[in-house]
Amino acid sequence: MNHGGSRPGSGRNAIQGKEIRIKVPDQVFEQLDLFFPGKTAQERIRECLEYGIKHKGREKLNTNDMQLNVVDLFSGAGGLSRGFMDASFNVVLGIDFDDAALKTFKENHGDADIMKLDLFNHDNLHHITDYLEERDIKVDVLIGGPPCQGYSLAGPRNEHDERNTLYEAMVKFANMTKPKVVVLENVPGLLKLFDGKGAQRIVDDFTDLGYNMQKKILYAPDFGVPQIRKRVFFVGVLPEYGNFEYPTPFVEPESYITCEQAIGDLPSLEEDLGTEIAEYPNVAGTMYEELMRANSDKLYNHVGTQHEQKTIDLIAMVPEGKNFRALPAPYNTMFKYNEALTRYHSQRPSLTINTGHRSHFHYKWNRIPTVRESARLQSFPDDFIFYGNKSQQYRQVGNAVPPLLGKAVGLQVKELLSKVEETMNV
Ligand SMILES: C[S@@+](CC[C@H](N)C(=O)[O-])C[C@H]1O[C@@H](n2cnc3c(N)ncnc32)[C@H](O)[C@@H]1O
Repeated sequence: MNHGGSRPGSGRNAIQGKEIRIKVPDQVFEQLDLFFPGKTAQERIRECLEYGIKHKGREKLNTNDMQLNVVDLFSGAGGLSRGFMDASFNVVLGIDFDDAALKTFKENHGDADIMKLDLFNHDNLHHITDYLEERDIKVDVLIGGPPCQGYSLAGPRNEHDERNTLYEAMVKFANMTKPKVVVLENVPGLLKLFDGKGAQRIVDDFTDLGYNMQKKILYAPDFGVPQIRKRVFFVGVLPEYGNFEYPTPFVEPESYITCEQAIGDLPSLEEDLGTEIAEYPNVAGTMYEELMRANSDKLYNHVGTQHEQKTIDLIAMVPEGKNFRALPAPYNTMFKYNEALTRYHSQRPSLTINTGHRSHFHYKWNRIPTVRESARLQSFPDDFIFYGNKSQQYRQVGNAVPPLLGKAVGLQVKELLSKVEETMNV
């Protein structure tokens, strides 16, 4: 606050404004003397009023600050974070050790910061708590998708894969910061493999910290995602915040968003391979496309891949929704991997987008889907831009939680915590 002779209205300087007469109780008058400087009672009253008005403004800011703070461990590009952002959470930090993914995270999450840390080393967690303490930030919700290679159906299943213990960084961090809610996402195979031991350990470790744990497999098409992805969620809530309820599906199977509805408006790239930034050549044709294009006036990451002619000829033989098995001999026995040479079906959601990106093909064009097409099928809106080289971009997309699925979970967390806040404020 400015005090002394130079402030408006002090000394003999005339003040522009309204003159009013007010009666102040003696007690308040004494308090004015104590807490507000000024040579005269008038000055002190003005100081008090200004302070009150400033303080009121800050209260308004605080309402925004009262947004619930989220920290995302193993954030990748931030599909899960984007979902929580869209559910009105304040995403504060994304932590990963992949530079390209972190660059994508930083560019797509407003004011959120990033930290490059190896989360194998739990000593590194102190860098996060130091950051939060310096800024006086309390973590309300901890989210994370620790690597799942050891459990993934796409990779080798190895109980002793040390990556399976990476989730312990989340347990340790939860113990250090005591967030109200913890959300851990993983592949559903985790529930069944190795007699469900991995999943049980996750539940036990968070339960030991006092969290009430609930786990559930969610099916992405039920929440508006044009992809048959399933993911298991573990949600832990501290007892004083009540019981978490998983979101109820809101799309009926007959209305699942199809590949054509999701990516039908994107250029075929038959004539040329396109560029990293392009104009939309047409208007959105479906509600889903409109939703995806809502905040973007340019088309990013839609660049084709130059296949060899023999690959194009092979893809051309695969009918919609079929794979290499539909080909004539010898091609029908050439592959061991079930999903090899699979062409998406235009009238169904896509298969699960993976990080490899070379086994699935566009439902109509004889090529792999572009990063943007894969991102659309993951429900990333077009204003979410991917960075890094093409392989890194595909990996970021394939690794991600579909933002629409993340949002559905986020909204439930929000509802739970808002209810408690309301009760506390009554
Ligand atoms: C399944 S992805 C997470 C995807 C993310 N939840 C999303 O929705 O976009 C797992 C992430 O863990 C990161 N990761 C793997 N090992 C790590 C480690 N030791 N330290 C930090 N991050 C690691 C990977 O780089 C990858 O981005």
